[in-house]
Amino acid sequence: MNNKPLIIANWKMNPATFEEAERLLNTINKEMGRNENAEVVICPPFIYLSSLLSIAKDNLVFGAQDCFWEDKGAYTGEISPLMLKKLGSQYVIIGHSERRKYFQETDQVINRKLKAILKARLNPVLCVGEEARDSFDSEGRSLDEVSLVIGEQVEKALIEVSPAWIRNLVIAYEPIWAIGTGNSCSSDDAMRATLFIRKILTKLYDRSIAEKVKIIYGGSVTSQNVVDLVEGANMDGVLVGGASLNASEFVKIMEVLKK
Ligand code: PGA
Repeated sequence: MNNKPLIIANWKMNPATFEEAERLLNTINKEMGRNENAEVVICPPFIYLSSLLSIAKDNLVFGAQDCFWEDKGAYTGEISPLMLKKLGSQYVIIGHSERRKYFQETDQVINRKLKAILKARLNPVLCVGEEARDSFDSEGRSLDEVSLVIGEQVEKALIEVSPAWIRNLVIAYEPIWAIGTGNSCSSDDAMRATLFIRKILTKLYDRSIAEKVKIIYGGSVTSQNVVDLVEGANMDGVLVGGASLNASEFVKIMEVLKK
């Protein structure tokens, strides 16, 4: 694992009111006063970003859950990486399976967004993951689905991405069957997926670059399984959905990981 563990909270389209968002942030803020051993990134809905940034502790980092690829223009409803950068956001999640599924985002769209995010000097969090469970066999070889799906998603997202830009990249391995289901991946399988992703990065770039990219795990992360998933699987951190909306559970995740 490189450096401090990275803990990214993906609030998705939650909470329903700003007051609730503020309460959640205030609890995290208190913990941040004591936290020096993890980098914590909060990705709230766009409309809460600016207000939450203004009340957050300095060591709390913010990110967005998506963005468009142009800097500005006639793109109704969209937000650009440049706007996010100016606001003080540092990360942008892209290619989340919910965006691929509900908004038909393709690898080509994700590639354009990834390049725009890097150009704005933000950190993209590229989500990749296979659909079905049991994609690894019992002897630890990766089977077709994991290697095909993850390999293709990573390679297509990185088309024309120069090695000089790669250091800001975070890849989140998020098996789709593990998202929001309470069934997280085993640390062995998470480790195999990480090794596989690093192998692809080595093929596309080289080993030293592949080792610099942070690879994190997402999918039903809780305070119970987070240590196993991060330390056991040698991951650089976690992307937390549901559990990041429960203030005490999220604080527990921060506490157990920093030990
Ligand atoms: P989950 O979501 O933690 O609720 O499974 C993770 C994600 O979708 O990023």
